[in-house]
Amino acid sequence: MEEIPVRVAVRVRPLLCKEILHDHQICVRQIPNTQQVIIGKDRIFTFDFVFGKNSTQDEVYSTCIKPLVASLMEGYNATVFAYGQTGSGKTYTIGGGHIASVAEDRKGIIPHAIQDPFQSLSQNSSVAFNIKVSYIEVYKEDLRDLLELETSIKNLQIREDEKGNTGKETDFSEFNQYVSE
Ligand SMILES: Nc1ncnc2c1ncn2[C@@H]1O[C@H](COP(=O)(O)OP(=O)(O)OP(=O)(O)O)[C@@H](O)[C@H]1O
Ligand SMILES: [Mg+2]
Repeated sequence: MEEIPVRVAVRVRPLLCKEILHDHQICVRQIPNTQQVIIGKDRIFTFDFVFGKNSTQDEVYSTCIKPLVASLMEGYNATVFAYGQTGSGKTYTIGGGHIASVAEDRKGIIPHAIQDPFQSLSQNSSVAFNIKVSYIEVYKEDLRDLLELETSIKNLQIREDEKGNTGKETDFSEFNQYVSE
């Protein structure tokens, strides 16, 4: 069978206090010991990974993301994105909230994925690494650079060059110079 390079994980979030107060009911459940969820009484859906309402941030990271970060170190590209209706828990899971104000066990994917490479690098002193980070928000059709305040309102363009490197338009001269060194 052809290997599909896309995996889909579904995470069910618990009801919020205000939802409990308004007597909202849980409508999606994980079926124990399977990668399936059940909606209502009889609609079953299967995913590559299912995380129930008691799943932890660590569990989500270790199961789905950690292997991708490890493959980055071997030169592969990886993309993770969160998709779902408003209030479903995308920001919570991806860890895009204010990192300084988030308790250790609530830290999501981004803080974990940033810590991990530095940990592996500290264990490998024989190879020189160069790490570059950009943090870009896509909102409707607009891109905003979240690390460069002055350019945040500029109309950013994301491009792929002939070598398959993806980045902001302005990154390329520097990046290609590094790659050809
Ligand atoms: N797994 C979880 N455990 C506990 N609370 C959660 C979980 N996931 C989300 N929440 C809480 O649910 C609320 C909505 O989550 P969040 O803000 O992440 O949604 P969102 O998908 O990013 O919504 P939007 O599209 O509006 O940005 C937040 O108060 C968040 O703290
Ligand atoms: Mg959000």
